[in-house]
Amino acid sequence: MDTAELPLETTLTEKVSAEVCIVGAGIAGLTTAYFLSREGKSVVVLDDGPIGGGMTQRTTAHLVNALDDRYFELERLHGEEGARLAAESHTAAISAIETIVEQEAINCEFERLDGYLFVSPRDSKKVLDEELAAVHRAGLTDIEKVERVPWDFYETGPALRFPRQAQFHPLQYLAGLAKAIKGKGGRIFTQTHATEIEGGKQARIETKGGGVVNAGSVVVATNTPVNDLIAIHTKQAAYQTYVIGARIPKGSVPRALYWDTPDPYHYLRIETVGRGAAAYDVLIVGGEDHKTGQQDDANKRFAALERWTRHRFPMVEGIEYRWSGEVMEPVDGLAFIGRNPMDAKNVFIATGDSGNGMTHGTIAGILLTDLIMERRNPWESIYEPSRITLRALPEFLKENLNVAKQYTDLVRAGEVESADEIKRGGGAVISRGMSKVAVYKDSQGAFHEHSAVCTHLGCIVNWNTLENTWDCPCHGSRFDASGKVIQGPANKDLARE
Ligand SMILES: Cc1cc2nc3c(=O)[nH]c(=O)nc-3n(C[C@H](O)[C@H](O)[C@H](O)COP(=O)(O)OP(=O)(O)OC[C@H]3O[C@@H](n4cnc5c(N)ncnc54)[C@H](O)[C@@H]3O)c2cc1C
Ligand code: FES
Repeated sequence: MDTAELPLETTLTEKVSAEVCIVGAGIAGLTTAYFLSREGKSVVVLDDGPIGGGMTQRTTAHLVNALDDRYFELERLHGEEGARLAAESHTAAISAIETIVEQEAINCEFERLDGYLFVSPRDSKKVLDEELAAVHRAGLTDIEKVERVPWDFYETGPALRFPRQAQFHPLQYLAGLAKAIKGKGGRIFTQTHATEIEGGKQARIETKGGGVVNAGSVVVATNTPVNDLIAIHTKQAAYQTYVIGARIPKGSVPRALYWDTPDPYHYLRIETVGRGAAAYDVLIVGGEDHKTGQQDDANKRFAALERWTRHRFPMVEGIEYRWSGEVMEPVDGLAFIGRNPMDAKNVFIATGDSGNGMTHGTIAGILLTDLIMERRNPWESIYEPSRITLRALPEFLKENLNVAKQYTDLVRAGEVESADEIKRGGGAVISRGMSKVAVYKDSQGAFHEHSAVCTHLGCIVNWNTLENTWDCPCHGSRFDASGKVIQGPANKDLARE
């Protein structure tokens, strides 16, 4: 976000038609729009912010086939063939990005490099052997076990080396995709919030500014689908994850991607900032995840990341960046890409990325284009959004019991007795009779009051001190301090009090 622009286009205010309307200009939406426009389809893309203003601007942009959920786990859940298709699709996604970068001459620092999975001191080293055998069965036969990660300043013990992973600048990539889409006749509208999305003989998408899109099909690529009330949201859970950027001397840590094994795990990579003698590296370290809206202790999490980093990387000169973002964790480890369950046949979704949204978003582009072009795709069944993975039942129950527990907040007392207890720039939920009010006190001392009831399915939102947002602990909807919805599944602002 510090080193690229977020492109803006005009707002849609009139009626337009297209063969396909895509809601969401993150990596999933723009990749789908790109592949469809290459097929000669007329596309209209809508986004309520700028291009890339969702989670794609907050990503750490590891491009991997070394997936978040271990391959032996994917094999248990989806069988050997399922794990093989997952490996094949993520490998193909990295290559697809590489090809697009070349063909469209996108200047986005795309770089192939190795990835290393190492074991945290508390975990058993056996996990590496189990994973190595599973990745080989999944067809990734070039992965090998090495004695250690290539750091001479910290002993990690044995690791798995995943060759031909990659990294890039996600926002520069999206800017290039947007240019290519427009070059092929596609139309992109930003600051255009889709309020109603309906499939049927003709899909119809209504927008806040009065614009309407009539389309043959609609793809909802809003990170978590804003058009799906329940079906998908019981099968994925929203987690907040935290990242720091530590300044280190250029070249002091070998350029590669790194991950460890605890839950939540740490993810690392290196980005060079500046040029010539002034250039230095930023070590990007993420982790410390928790369920969205269920904790408000970002400073503690950043401190834990910094401690973990300084313990291993003595060359750290200072912490230059801190940020957080939200990831959607599917209960069975694979994204949901395809037709929206219990909806018209021409409504498609892409969600459930886990920490692999760059490749899942690219897979969405490939797979949804095939579905819309009525072509068969070998990955269709593993990403089918209506699937029920019986072996993931324990995880499904755990996440949904957790959600059920959040509803007890409806009858609990407010966080503070009166608004006077709220500090400037802070927020809290107050009980007023039977209702719960989300009160934000701005830096001038003025109060902004909204109903604390989430407009998705009625949970009570909680204040997020780091981001100045109201976050829903049930399925991860988020609202800014003025009550405006900024992250689904909710698609409406908090009601004014
Ligand atoms: C800190 C962090 C680190 C991560 N690291 C990695 C990584 O290393 N590798 C990896 O592969 N993945 C990673 N991920 C995951 C990845 O970033 C996401 O999964 C991915 O960016 C999601 O892309 P998307 O296009 O689905 O959604 P988004 O980028 O969120 O785009 C959705 C768009 O929809 C728009 N929108 C929403 N509702 C509406 C509406 N009603 N009308 C119009 N527009 C709407 C939003 O404005 C937004 O621009 C990370 C995520 C985070 C937060
Ligand atoms: S996100 Fe579902 S109730 Fe708030």
